[in-house]
Amino acid sequence: MKIINKVAVLGGGGRTGNYLVNQLLKEGFSIKLLLRNPENFCIQSSQIEIVKGDALDIESIKVAFQDCDAVITTVGQRKDEPLVASLATKNILQVMNEYGIHRYVLLAGLNIDTPFDKKSTKTQMATEWMKTNFPIIQEDRQKAYNLLEESNVNWTQVRVPFIEFKDTNSELAVNLEDCLGDKISAYDIANFMIQEMTESKFSRQSPFISAI
Ligand SMILES: NC(=O)c1ccc[n+]([C@@H]2O[C@H](COP(=O)([O-])OP(=O)(O)OC[C@H]3O[C@@H](n4cnc5c(N)ncnc54)[C@H](OP(=O)(O)O)[C@@H]3O)[C@@H](O)[C@H]2O)c1
Repeated sequence: MKIINKVAVLGGGGRTGNYLVNQLLKEGFSIKLLLRNPENFCIQSSQIEIVKGDALDIESIKVAFQDCDAVITTVGQRKDEPLVASLATKNILQVMNEYGIHRYVLLAGLNIDTPFDKKSTKTQMATEWMKTNFPIIQEDRQKAYNLLEESNVNWTQVRVPFIEFKDTNSELAVNLEDCLGDKISAYDIANFMIQEMTESKFSRQSPFISAI
């Protein structure tokens, strides 16, 4: 397995993204950070290189992924903005292939379906709520999952319930068929994503993780 030194991060200026960047720094990784508005980003480190750009623009992704060994994203749909999930995924997969980058870890909600799911009634209800209230966003995220499936990249889609933006460290329930808990801290998500990036325990799978 290729050693990962430099990680391209998308969504690093967001709420979970901040925890992810801090944890990557703590673990000694170099980071290339794609940000639309670098002026709003507060974390400073010599390990960070900032690229100003948009995940919808493939040229930005090309600059951001140059010299990177892996990609992590916590990008989320912003209200009243163009759909981001499927187009960003298409761009990411295309540039990863072009540059020979193999490892991709992304964050998603428990509402994404995979053929391997055995969702409980509660998780199904949460999924149906998203489908009813945000049908277009939901469809776009599902389309992004299909693109992952069609690719030959070593991806892991980490699915989570409600995120608490806290430093709390809990024991985690990790399950490939259903989300077993109601919440998880951003701190635990960041740790799990980084560990998964290096260990690839869930290669081409979509584990649900939650606090016990
Ligand atoms: N919050 C929850 O409870 C929850 C629960 C389950 C799953 N999730 C999922 O977890 C992920 C992270 O959630 P979060 O609450 O931490 O998100 P967040 O704070 O809303 O951050 C989203 C990030 O995505 C970036 N982004 C959006 N469109 C972009 C684009 N076109 N190009 C580049 N960057 C773009 C935003 O950048 P800007 O700052 O430039 O807008 C921001 O940094 C999302 O995928 C979300 O759907 C969240």
